[in-house]
Amino acid sequence: MTRYSRITGTGSYLPPRRLTNVDLAAELAARGVETSDEWIVERTGIRARHFAAPDVTSSDLGVEAAKHALEAAGLQPAEIDLIIVATSTPDMVFPSAACILQNKLGIAGCPAFDVQAVCSGFVYALTIADSMIKTGLASKALVIGAEVFSRILDFSDRTTCVLFGDGAGAVILEASDTPGILASDLHADGKHVDILCVPGHVSGGHVLGNPLLKMDGQAVFKLAVGVLDSAARATLAKANLTAADIDWLIPHQANIRIMRSTAKKLKMPFDKVIVTVDQHGNTSAASIPLALDDAVRSGKVKKGDVLMLEGVGGGFTWGAVLLKY
Ligand code: ACO
Repeated sequence: MTRYSRITGTGSYLPPRRLTNVDLAAELAARGVETSDEWIVERTGIRARHFAAPDVTSSDLGVEAAKHALEAAGLQPAEIDLIIVATSTPDMVFPSAACILQNKLGIAGCPAFDVQAVCSGFVYALTIADSMIKTGLASKALVIGAEVFSRILDFSDRTTCVLFGDGAGAVILEASDTPGILASDLHADGKHVDILCVPGHVSGGHVLGNPLLKMDGQAVFKLAVGVLDSAARATLAKANLTAADIDWLIPHQANIRIMRSTAKKLKMPFDKVIVTVDQHGNTSAASIPLALDDAVRSGKVKKGDVLMLEGVGGGFTWGAVLLKY
């Protein structure tokens, strides 16, 4: 019998501190940085984001999302046999956020590692977990996207600091004799390093280079629309389906204009696109599982629906996962 993988539970967690655009604009004004709710909404669709408290890490957010996903799947932590955390803002340089999170779940022994593909991290992690389940290396995987992007924002740069937020989303992916994940398509092109990067880092309290996010927004925008379309089409072709078969498009939540362009290229009505960027901002690797959990818990996504998850981010990296929920 063919072995497939299937999502059996979803969960998410947002840190309690929520800032509307008006709240953020007031904080930035105190630093002499000018922005407005009107500008942010018109250019991005973002209305609010959550920021974690200074002592809260990605694994702290991720473990809360994981607990909700485990509960939804009806599993105990000890039943998990693989943990993958997609993050670009891990707690430490090492050990991985996944190892730290495993310990916080009170379990030990199963493989646990991080995937670093920035905003494509969750589709990368889900594809790896799917492959490990299909080859028999795992049966019950916990796949998480967790970020504290507020830590790497330059709050003197209004072109980037208004775009991002913190949060975590998780899924349980289990072996199944029915699909599940139908197809994936992953890519990277390292020549675009300069248009979106955090060129330096912090290690042991020492800052090396510039540890804050730099982005050429227009270059990212143009590239994102093209690669999201090609990844979606390649994934549909692998599964022998068309865009008309998709019940819900769940793209990386970076900018509502990118999401509108992606839906238009696929000739999908925008009311089939799950949108949470308005409430979460761009939470990088956490954005897709956060949006998925929101759509499941609000009753939009139902068992048996066909979902297209799509990510794009620094690297450049991009990819898509087509699945039957
Ligand atoms: N508030 C007010 N004004 C601003 C702000 C702000 N926060 N930021 C920029 N401006 C000003 C600029 O200074 C500029 O002013 P000028 O015309 O006087 O020079 C004007 O607004 C227009 O700036 P642009 O950069 O041309 O604005 P644009 O329409 O390109 O929107 C944006 C900028 C929102 C960043 C857009 O390019 C974008 O969304 N790009 C994609 C970014 C993205 O999605 N990144 C994430 C994807 S990958 C990942 O998630 C890691």
